[in-house]
Order: sequence, then structure tokens, then C-alpha cells
Amino acid sequence: MKPALLPLDELLARAGSTPFYAIDIAAVRDKIAGLRALLPADLQLCYAVKANPLPALLRAIAQSLDGADVSSAGELVRALDAGFRADSLGFTGPGKRDDELRQAILAGARICAESTGEIGRIAALSEQLGRAARVALRANPDFTVDTSRVRMSGDSFFGMDSALLPAAIAQLRHAGLEFAGLHYYCASRMLDAATVRALHAHCAEEALRICDAADLALPWLNLGGGFGVPVAKDESPLDMVSVGDHLRALSDMLKRACPGIVLALEPGRYLVAEAGHYICRVIDRKTTRGRTWLIVDGGAHQHLHATLQPDRSEPAAFPMTLHPSVPGEREIVSIAGPLCAPFDIFARDIELPRASPGDLLVVHCSGAYGASASPLHFLGHPSPAEIVF
Ligand SMILES: Cc1ncc(COP(=O)(O)O)c(C=O)c1O
Repeated sequence: MKPALLPLDELLARAGSTPFYAIDIAAVRDKIAGLRALLPADLQLCYAVKANPLPALLRAIAQSLDGADVSSAGELVRALDAGFRADSLGFTGPGKRDDELRQAILAGARICAESTGEIGRIAALSEQLGRAARVALRANPDFTVDTSRVRMSGDSFFGMDSALLPAAIAQLRHAGLEFAGLHYYCASRMLDAATVRALHAHCAEEALRICDAADLALPWLNLGGGFGVPVAKDESPLDMVSVGDHLRALSDMLKRACPGIVLALEPGRYLVAEAGHYICRVIDRKTTRGRTWLIVDGGAHQHLHATLQPDRSEPAAFPMTLHPSVPGEREIVSIAGPLCAPFDIFARDIELPRASPGDLLVVHCSGAYGASASPLHFLGHPSPAEIVF
């Protein structure tokens, strides 16, 4: 990926100080439009708010999307505030509290139930409130995405084993609740198109089979998100043309079997990651045991996923640029944050222009799972500003 050119002085003046995040709204809109062009025309394209719940971002994209996936009442409120329609929201999550379920029922959101116990609680709350909840069932299929590091199906606590779905559907009907479809979300950071196609095919076929057996029309099938964006040097982009072609064929097949079905996706990272940048400042440089380190003022407390993760022996080394960059002089450096923690490393032994304290380091591809997915309170540093441009 070629890093974007940023109006850094202007952004820094607005943010006030480093470190801070800046999200390029036009880039997110382009990504949404580019993805839409590859997908079936009537597919419901939703956004997983957890990827980046920044209110200014949500407000800016709400009208270009068909809905949102929320995983807490906090996200539900943010999505509503941003202009997403209540009936376009899907509420997922393995542990929804009663007060959150109540809020979702009253709002009219589609609740993706993840256990028979949860269906029981939704039924009781619906009765108390005098409002029939719209309930989809989140399935945990027998399909493991071997090519991704972040798996959420198979041996996991998400959703209900597919074998339990017929009983869950019967439970819904018995309780007089609306069956609002089936939901699948099996992995994140998927970069292999063949795996994504196989996953989508598996889930679509399974969903049809289950509804056929229950003599039910499937109203809505959400195939989730999980589309990856390459950050490390050893990663290549997901072939979304191939994924889109396959989804169009799948959509035709689903409509033949089940006219009126609505097919949905809810990607997060894919829509926002590349549009976001994390800007920090070089505080110090030093050489220890022959290795040159740049110490910057941003780190794992604000951008956990860009630092050394437990599933890697080396940091992913997100694309990074240095400003100002002195033409000509380059060096091999490692980059660490300010925390007293050995995982607070952005990169080891990468080539950059020669850096001095005071220079700005921009960590690109930082628009997803940044500040909101980081331990912001760790070590008592102030939270980073998050701005859109
Ligand atoms: C239910 C659900 N939907 C959507 C997403 C978005 O995933 P991604 O950002 O990988 O597309 C997640 C992420 O964990 C999720 O749990």
C-alpha cells in the first residue's frame, strides 16, 4: 500500500498535540462505494461499529450504508445518534445484559440471539414490555477459517451450534417472537478469497437447509464481515472481485430458493482501516546492543493492534512514514512506545529515513480497532485526540 499524503501541519494544529488519530472521510466513502460496486446490487451493506465507533465518522457514513452491527447498548445509542435507522441495526454479542436487551427491543433493532438462554430472556422481556422482539439467530457453523489468526467459529463461545438452531427456531415460534433471520460471523482479518468464498457458500447452504427443514422462509441472511486489510509485509490484499463475483452467484441461488430473502454483510475493518492514521512524535533515539531504537510518544495503550501481539513473534510493522524526511539518508531502526511493557513495539529493524527527536511518525492503516480497542488507561497517559478530515 502506498501511504497517503496527509496535510500534517493542519491536522496537528487541530488535534493540539501528539499522539492523535486522523480519519480521512473521503477515503472511507470511496471504500464503501468501491465495495458496493462489487457486491450484489440489493445486498444490505452494514458497518460493524466496533471497528471504529467515532461519532463524527458514524455521522459521516450513516447515509451511505444500509445499517450497522452494534455489540453493546453504548454502540446502539451511538449508531442511533449518528442517523442509522433503528430497524437497520443488528445487535450481536455473546453476553447482552437485560437492560441492553430492553433498549434494543424498545428501539426495534434486530437482536441476534446467541444462546437458547438469551432467547428465553428476550421472550420474557418482550412480554414485560408488550413489544415483540425481532430475533435473528447467530449460528456457529462447523466451519473453521484456518487461514485467519482471529477465528470465531467452531470451538468458540459465539452463537449457537448449527445443530441447535432447529430447536432455537421452535423456541422462538413457541414464544411468539418474530424470526428475523440467521447471522454468521466466523473470523476476522481474512485475506484469502478462496476461504471467504468457501465460508460464504457453507453458511448459505446451511442456512437454507435449516429453514427448509423448519418449513420457514429465510427472511435475512447476514454473512458477517471479517475482510482483512494487509498491514504486514508478508500479507497481500484480499481479492474482493473474486469474493463479490461469488456473492452475486450465491445471491441468485438464494433468491431462487427463497424469494424475498435479504442478504447482508457487516464488515468493519475493511471499510475504515486504510483511511485512518495514527500520528505520534519521536521523543528519543538510542542504541542498545547494536540496535537503534526510536522511542515515540504513542504506543500500545492507544494502538494495541499495531504493536507486538501475542499471536506474533515480531510486530506486524504497519506501514509507517517519517516527517520531515531528510532525503537520501536512511537507516535501519526499531520503534517502541513510551510504556514500560516489552510488547510496546511498533516495528523491529525496518528501514526509514534518518529520524531525530521531534519528527512525526505516522502509522498508516490505523482506522480500525485503534483507540477504542486499546487499554487507554494503562499507565495514566491522556487519551489521544481523534479527528476526521
Ligand atoms: C459480530 C461481528 N460482526 C462484525 C465484526 C467486524 O469484523 P471485521 O472488522 O473483521 O470486519 C465483528 C468483529 O469482531 C463481529 O464480532
